[in-house]
Amino acid sequence: MARVDAEVSFLLAYIILPILSLFLVSRYLFELNLKKLESLVLRRTCAWLSRRYLEKEKQLLFKHLGDIKQTSRRALSILEIGIGSGENFQYYPRGVHFSCVEPNHHYDSVWKKKLEKFRHIRLDECFHLGAEDMPDVKSNMYDVVVCTLVLCSVMDPAAVLREIHRVLKPVSIFCFCH
Ligand SMILES: C[S@@+](CC[C@H](N)C(=O)[O-])C[C@H]1O[C@@H](n2cnc3c(N)ncnc32)[C@H](O)[C@@H]1O
Repeated sequence: MARVDAEVSFLLAYIILPILSLFLVSRYLFELNLKKLESLVLRRTCAWLSRRYLEKEKQLLFKHLGDIKQTSRRALSILEIGIGSGENFQYYPRGVHFSCVEPNHHYDSVWKKKLEKFRHIRLDECFHLGAEDMPDVKSNMYDVVVCTLVLCSVMDPAAVLREIHRVLKPVSIFCFCH
């Protein structure tokens, strides 16, 4: 883990942050509209970091979902908190009814396009909310809540955990990785 931390710190400090700074400076000094390029670079960088450093952890984390689905006849209802660009679809087993909570609606077009490749996942609802307060999400509703790489970016992690507890069924799973 120390080696991974060192590699990630190196990439952030010497490659990602300088590139981002260059984009920001170009935007404000030269009034360049690089929004599309920025978002493409950010998305690609996050996807690459996720594949490079988290693939094994995520495979392990989601393996249990496949095992549980095999023993259950009905569809598994999943709520994903902070879906981002939809990096977790590839790990979901067949027979999944999927909803998500994502405050940033700019991700919608990205994850919806990705979801087209995963026809075994049925999309139920997307809530554009912060997970600290999810009044539109019913209590005791989901078999599984997935929350990967999100808790560090929320304002109030304790409130998020309380809300996750509320929306989960009494017998359920909370898939979390950080
Ligand atoms: C680093 S990305 C992780 C994306 C995805 N879960 C993954 O594993 O690749 C963090 C995500 O959390 C979302 N997010 C930030 N604050 C949030 C909040 N208060 N409630 C729910 N999601 C939030 C961001 O918009 C972003 O999509």
